Amino acid sequence: MRVMSERISRRIGAITESATLAVDAKAKALQAAGEPVIGFGAGEPDFPTPAHIVEAAAAACRNPKYHRYTPAAGLPELREAIAAKTVRDSGFVTAAANILVTNGGKQAVYNTFEALLNPGDEVLVPAPYWTTYPEPIALAGATAVVISTDVSSGFKVTLEQLEAAYTPRTKALLFVSPSNPTGAVYSREQTIEIGRWAASKGLWVITDEIYEHLVYDEREFSSMATLVPELGDRVVILNGVAKTYAMTGWRVGWMIGPPDLIKAATNLQSHSTSNVCNVAQAAALAAVSGDLSAVAEMRAAFDRRRRRMHALLSSIDGVICLEPEGAFYAFPSFEGVLGRTFNGRKATSTSELATIILDEAKVAVIPGEAFGAPGYFRLSFALGDDDLGEGVTRIADFIGGR
Ligand SMILES: Cc1ncc(COP(=O)(O)O)c(C=O)c1O
Repeated sequence: MRVMSERISRRIGAITESATLAVDAKAKALQAAGEPVIGFGAGEPDFPTPAHIVEAAAAACRNPKYHRYTPAAGLPELREAIAAKTVRDSGFVTAAANILVTNGGKQAVYNTFEALLNPGDEVLVPAPYWTTYPEPIALAGATAVVISTDVSSGFKVTLEQLEAAYTPRTKALLFVSPSNPTGAVYSREQTIEIGRWAASKGLWVITDEIYEHLVYDEREFSSMATLVPELGDRVVILNGVAKTYAMTGWRVGWMIGPPDLIKAATNLQSHSTSNVCNVAQAAALAAVSGDLSAVAEMRAAFDRRRRRMHALLSSIDGVICLEPEGAFYAFPSFEGVLGRTFNGRKATSTSELATIILDEAKVAVIPGEAFGAPGYFRLSFALGDDDLGEGVTRIADFIGGR
């Protein structure tokens, strides 16, 4: 008997679409069709990339040297500059040889998990988590062990929770601060405590530092890689230019790790995407070699929007919203709103409520289900002040039946 072949592989067939990109695409499609939709979906700054970075790319475009392949690991001068920038910004001392330039931070996530994990391995993933992490873990045949946190702990995982989730199969801990989607920022003490725990278990730590420059009030960014030297050669830093320099579309990120891991990940990348676009690397070189004045200006605007969004969301009956400490996301609980009927449509989950709000109030938010946290919404505050005010007011009016 002939066995029917499966058209799509089981591994890839099991991958879900990125919910954040899907909501953003739907919002943009509705906008293009003339609907007055306001989108809180995409995590991208509304600012243009700073002029000196664009100029560097324009100059690279005119220079035939940049019309060619680069080494798979990236332009040597960019890797040097990333090493220098890492010491400057987080105090972590590294060398160009320990850096792989990737197509955005997302490919650094993918490369890391594919290069590190074997089937059966477990990775501790505190939730709410960024929607992308579990997929490459599953693709590697490993398991994401999700550790739930909520507003009561400020969305921060505790040592007790980590200890309870740990098994002899645990290979790595994923640590993300400032966090997408919650905006939580771990203190220096918490970072050290968790890092030392991971080191004592002999775990790898993958620390995603892409929001390092977006912390508010008196808070400071703490790099676990720097603060916990006991992690030795089992620490991987993920980073990129997207959020710091308003460069989401340029697609430049990187991973920093021990030589054997970087070599393995470079081999993988050499067969998948080769090098990152040469011109984009020239732009990233200008970004990371320059000063941080542009991000300081953007941070001031995000800070203003953060306060406004927090105040508006907190005023909605049934909504609990912590003030975001970093990144550019608010992560309010809409649990208290579920079960109500809006325009004849009952919302029993935040996933359903998000659809109703998009259809009826023309506002796009990402439901917490996408981040392993039903009951919440993620709203980016990296959009213009007017849209932000109008969008959250629309949600408040809609929920309040006005
Ligand atoms: C926590 C985190 N890491 C990595 C990335 C990847 O960013 P990019 O691929 O645009 O560089 C994102 C983007 O949303 C993120 O939120």
